[in-house]
Amino acid sequence: MINILVTGGCGFIGSNFIRHLLLETGFDGYVINVDKLTYAGNPNNLEDFEITFPERYIFIQADICDRESMTEVFEKYKIDTVCHFAAESHVDRSILGPQDFIQTNIFGTFNLLELCRLHRDRLNLFHHISTDEVFGSLDEKEFFSENTPYDPSSPYSASKAGSDHLVSAYGKTYGIPITISNCSNNYGPYQFPEKLVPLTILNAIEGKPIPVYGDGKNIRDWLYVKDHCRAIWRVMESGKRGETYMVGGKTDMHNIDVVRAICDILDEFEPALNSGPRRALIRFVKDRPGHDLRYAVDFSKIQTELGWVPDETFDSGIRKTIRWYLDNSGWIKQVKSGEYMSWIKKHYHHN
Ligand code: NAD
Ligand code: DAU
Repeated sequence: MINILVTGGCGFIGSNFIRHLLLETGFDGYVINVDKLTYAGNPNNLEDFEITFPERYIFIQADICDRESMTEVFEKYKIDTVCHFAAESHVDRSILGPQDFIQTNIFGTFNLLELCRLHRDRLNLFHHISTDEVFGSLDEKEFFSENTPYDPSSPYSASKAGSDHLVSAYGKTYGIPITISNCSNNYGPYQFPEKLVPLTILNAIEGKPIPVYGDGKNIRDWLYVKDHCRAIWRVMESGKRGETYMVGGKTDMHNIDVVRAICDILDEFEPALNSGPRRALIRFVKDRPGHDLRYAVDFSKIQTELGWVPDETFDSGIRKTIRWYLDNSGWIKQVKSGEYMSWIKKHYHHN
């Protein structure tokens, strides 16, 4: 792997992955980050990288659905590896308007696969980042594994399921070297504050109401983003081509317990609000339609075959995350004000 195309590298997981790859893995090739810079993409997440790695880190603002731009990227940078994060990622937005999800998640993935087919002589790997949500909801005591049948509930998870099937079909039909990882809920630095963890942290810092859907008894399996990035690189380096790997944190928790934990840790880190303990900010609100009840991941395959296990517990990971948000008020202010959109226009032309 020399010239790695990372799609969606200005988003939450993608930017953490590029940081991990260039700073912590010993990888000495080139990273070509292609990101459309939707509302969720923030080039500030990697602002320092164009200075620290002026030759080895290249940012290009482009849409993965645009065949012409992507052809140019594949040819100009002699792409031999793809790590594909770019997606519309928020379930609630997919319920309000599924169009962009179908376009980017399905058509965008198809577009990249077609370019891999064209350039398959030099293609080392197409690694597809996917989600445990493609499997739908679990009963008590069940776990998702690589053999769980697909049963997506939301337009988001259906579009990710579609993309998974395309990736696996291109592997089987055209012999493209592919791997897929299906991961549980990530949290950590640089996550856009529409998702449960950063939204709760920011509202709890500011003393605003914290919305919990339904009765708060839905269960998610939480993984610190850096552990996910380590898993992705492990699969890319040593995973068997054509295979899928489940990735999770072994931390399946009720949403209400996640929210309460964040409130309590913030009460400990920061002087209490005038209104009292932050748990008082919790509000139970109307449930999400089609809300999956429970996710939990059995990651024994990646553990046994590739020796990956998470480093962080939920307590250690969430403490690091809360600390990061408290220490990065500038990033929060910028993301929340939408100010970085004008910053983008000033700094980046379509290249
Ligand atoms: P994100 O929304 O934070 O980032 C997505 C990035 O993709 C943004 O930078 C955005 O600008 C870019 N993008 C969107 N459409 C694009 C297009 N058409 N062309 C080029 N770039 C485009 O998402 P995230 O949470 O970092 O998720 C990254 C990937 O990981 C997604 O594929 C998601 O399905 C998957 N995933 C996420 C989680 C999670 O908990 N966040 C868990 C498992 C899997
Ligand atoms: O499981 C992996 C998936 O995790 C990823 O594929 C998605 O890209 C990612 O967004 C995430 O999806 P979720 O829907 O699980 O994440 P979200 O943070 O939106 O919600 C987590 C849980 O919290 C879910 O049960 C809904 C609930 N929730 C969410 C929000 C935003 C609330 O109770 N209140 C909220 O305000």
